[in-house]
Amino acid sequence: MRWIVVGANGMLGQDLVEMLEKKGEEVRTYDRPEIDLTVEASVRERVKDADVVVNCAAYTAVDAAEEDERAAFNVNATAVEYLAVVCREIGARLVHISTDYIFDEPADRPTPCAEDDLPAPAGAYGRTKLAGEWALRALGEDYLIVRTAWLYGAKGNCFPKTMARLAGEHDRLTVVADQFGQPTWTRDLADLVWRLVEAKAPVGIYHGTSEGKTNWHGFTQAIVRSLGKDPKMVAPVTTAEFPRPAPRPAFSVLGHDRLRAIGVEPIGAWEERWEVATPEVLADYF
Ligand SMILES: NC(=O)c1ccc[n+]([C@@H]2O[C@H](COP(=O)([O-])OP(=O)(O)OC[C@H]3O[C@@H](n4cnc5c(N)ncnc54)[C@H](OP(=O)(O)O)[C@@H]3O)[C@@H](O)[C@H]2O)c1
Repeated sequence: MRWIVVGANGMLGQDLVEMLEKKGEEVRTYDRPEIDLTVEASVRERVKDADVVVNCAAYTAVDAAEEDERAAFNVNATAVEYLAVVCREIGARLVHISTDYIFDEPADRPTPCAEDDLPAPAGAYGRTKLAGEWALRALGEDYLIVRTAWLYGAKGNCFPKTMARLAGEHDRLTVVADQFGQPTWTRDLADLVWRLVEAKAPVGIYHGTSEGKTNWHGFTQAIVRSLGKDPKMVAPVTTAEFPRPAPRPAFSVLGHDRLRAIGVEPIGAWEERWEVATPEVLADYF
């Protein structure tokens, strides 16, 4: 199959491209400056002669998006509109990566969010990503929307690396314990994208996260434990005690029923996947 990956230099993009190349797939990769997805002519110039196009590009600066929602909208929604139209014209399947931040459920919600639950984003980033989903649903023909969350990987700045650095500098860390989600490894998500395409998954929305749930405090405890430190060094705080420019969802745990319904195995439990990922992701911190 002929693949195009856009946003190929990002944290997910790099792991996806590496995996596809290892599998011997024909892959063309684009990122800025070779492509500017917010310019239709640029999308048309690059996105051609492909069977599958994967959009790993996004405006991912959650706090900055509050200050410049227009810029975030341009990348997270307008660019998806262009990709949807061009992929339809060239007959390519478009795999678009979206986010759990389209949801903001109460922290004590007992069940994960289903693929067709009504979204209600807490902030600008989530709003713009949701607009991207709808652009694709309205204009796309052959597409998969894969929502992921709390991504970490060896090839990007991510939460575990930040916490590993801080754990080396301080005796005690304080981390919010009232936001619930699913830490997810970029390699696992790349593999899921591959398996969905291989399975010829029906058009629609899928949830590409690890199973189970935790909060940032729980995840940080797992991170410091992997480094041989005492998890008791991590103290819980509330979101109210640790204000950030952008609101974050209190609960955005995603369910995987639709994957199971089509016979595609979801990514495993987040704790198990973190153990497998640690040596690679935290290689610089041991
Ligand atoms: N990271 C997470 O925790 C997380 C959670 C949920 C969902 N997601 C979603 O997962 C996907 C991958 O995230 P990631 O963390 O791998 O992203 P990332 O590391 O921020 O990479 C995004 C890439 O997109 C490129 N890009 C931005 N604007 C562009 C434009 N106009 N034209 C072309 N390329 C452009 C960026 O280039 P520049 O470096 O030049 O900006 C960057 O290389 C995104 O859809 C994101 O919304 C991520």
